[in-house]
Amino acid sequence: MVRIVGLCGSLRAASYNRGLLRAAASSLPEGATLEVVEIGALPLMNQDLETPGWPAEVVAFRQALWGADAMLFACPEYNAGIPAPLKNAVDWASRFEGGGRISAPAGETRRTPLQEVPAAIMGATPGSLGTARAQQHLRTVLLACGMRLMPAPDCYVGSATQRFDANSDLTDEASRAAVAKTVAGLVAWAGLAGRRRAT
Ligand code: FNR
Repeated sequence: MVRIVGLCGSLRAASYNRGLLRAAASSLPEGATLEVVEIGALPLMNQDLETPGWPAEVVAFRQALWGADAMLFACPEYNAGIPAPLKNAVDWASRFEGGGRISAPAGETRRTPLQEVPAAIMGATPGSLGTARAQQHLRTVLLACGMRLMPAPDCYVGSATQRFDANSDLTDEASRAAVAKTVAGLVAWAGLAGRRRAT
């Protein structure tokens, strides 16, 4: 079983990127699951909030990440970079366990729920560049957090107004195929680069 945790970088109700995650959920290979973990309730990163322990929302968020065999990021592009809510979520997840700050299950040896986790990125935008710039930005950040980024395939969905329906469901067949390729690639990548395989 490969348990994938999905994060959506948009808090918008009719988010196209949320639609990408729904498309991913509908194309899971046998033996894989996808659970979307919400990021909208997290406070803004403020180190003063880390003492004496993390806020309850942060602990709950991190606890939801610890069991992931792989992570799938649906990343909008804001001003050529990562949207603030997603960067905020990654920053909270990236903080080391220790002191009064505990979210890990017993026996966990990693310092954060991101370390050593295989990850893939996809993104949708009405624009023509398909979130390529934001994805590059996110890739740099996730590598700094110790994640194992899938080298390929990439998944850029531009011209979103033509590729999603009124419910923000992905209807364009070529784009659905690209999402399915990313999901299948991530499951295979988790087998190659995941911790269970390495240990
Ligand atoms: C955007 N948008 C945008 N799009 C893009 O392709 N490149 C960009 O640099 C930006 N910059 C940007 C900045 C800010 C502050 C906002 C709010 C929006 C447009 C964005 O891609 C569009 O709103 C998407 O629909 C957002 O993704 P969701 O919410 O549909 O998932």
